[in-house]
Amino acid sequence: MKTQVCIIGGGPSGLMLSQLLHLKGIETVVLERQSREYVLSRIRAGVLEHGFAELMREAQCGERMDKEGEIHDGFLIAHDGKLDRVDLHKYSGGSSVVVYGQTELTRDLYEARDRMKGIVIHNAEDVQPHDLKSDKPYVTYRNGDEIVRIDCDFVIGADGFHGVSRKSIPKNVLKEYEKVYPFGWLGVLSRTKPVSPELIYAKHERGFALCSLRSQVLSRYYIQVPLTDTVEDWSDEAFWNELKRRLPKEVADKLITGDSIEKSIAPLRSFVAEPMRYGNLFLAGDAAHIVPPTGARGLNSAASDIYYLYRAMVAHYKQGDSSGLDNYSAKALARVWKAQRFSWWMTTMLHTFPASIEYDQKLQEIDLAYLFSSEAAQRSLAENYVGLPF
Ligand code: APR
Ligand code: PHB
Repeated sequence: MKTQVCIIGGGPSGLMLSQLLHLKGIETVVLERQSREYVLSRIRAGVLEHGFAELMREAQCGERMDKEGEIHDGFLIAHDGKLDRVDLHKYSGGSSVVVYGQTELTRDLYEARDRMKGIVIHNAEDVQPHDLKSDKPYVTYRNGDEIVRIDCDFVIGADGFHGVSRKSIPKNVLKEYEKVYPFGWLGVLSRTKPVSPELIYAKHERGFALCSLRSQVLSRYYIQVPLTDTVEDWSDEAFWNELKRRLPKEVADKLITGDSIEKSIAPLRSFVAEPMRYGNLFLAGDAAHIVPPTGARGLNSAASDIYYLYRAMVAHYKQGDSSGLDNYSAKALARVWKAQRFSWWMTTMLHTFPASIEYDQKLQEIDLAYLFSSEAAQRSLAENYVGLPF
């Protein structure tokens, strides 16, 4: 098989790039290790920054998002017995975020790929990129007993944190930066009315909690848990009780509980791999960097990678200008690190760290006190939360 751009990974990053390139007449093949059902059963975060929503529209995939997604102009932070609001709209110069589940967004991207007869190969086993330093790279995968070869101009590694792409960059070329947090988030999805129309991030001595939502009938809640906990340790009842203890009383009293329809634990990690290009391999999204979910930056730092790659590929194929490809890694990393800083800051400010010294706890309190006493600080938060420009 032959194509122009071979994309490894059929998550939001790979699908979005495939869709955008297709609309500009650039051929792609997407190789996904899992079945479509599996990919669409993963529950992921649900806040889209303005720039990502725009990219969905540009990819002709924004219709359902615009109909069903909710525009949020602000969110709340519960701390020290208070419930303070961050006015995103006011402090970001009129911007906002869209609350729309990443699972739904992935579904929309798959449907768009189907509509345009895009090639997405599922259950592709043993995917392996080859000859990345040459101008004739290729990718192989196994389909049962058969090894299939795809010749291409470029390989995109959009195969997430555990993918094969990053691993195919030699160790002496790749530098990895990592910070692992000593806790995870236990998340519950329930078919209940959300406790608040806007998200509530709650700092509490028992641990962080988050009240989020997917729609006015579907809620998503999280609590910080030790890494040693398992889902089996948490009955629905234990989860709701703990969540209520971490929320301000006026919120806890209103909380509508119900059966969980999904429950999972995700560890919190910050990670960046540099560079994001090796020969004709380009890394994008979670394959190159991940953030703890506290600032809702995961998908959004993938968005700028996709945007830069898309523009660079179009300039390469349509104008013979490869400067965008040459600058990709440096440009993408500059924004990636800003999202890392923001996610680290939100995480550090709002969580309870098992071995923290009193000095650090004081600084957490002061960080919040400063935030809500300073318009400049709120402007900075808002600017980052709605998304820095691409
Ligand atoms: N071969 C083919 N596909 C693979 C391989 C492989 N060896 N390894 C992983 N994959 C697939 C995964 O099954 C997954 O569907 O690559 C896809 C990567 O998708 P994501 O992990 O969703 O990563 P990305 O598309 O970059 O999306 C970033 O997703 O994880 C969230 O917080 C993250 O919101 C962010 C967004
Ligand atoms: C979610 O709805 O899953 C969600 C929202 C905001 C975050 C993280 C997760 O910061």
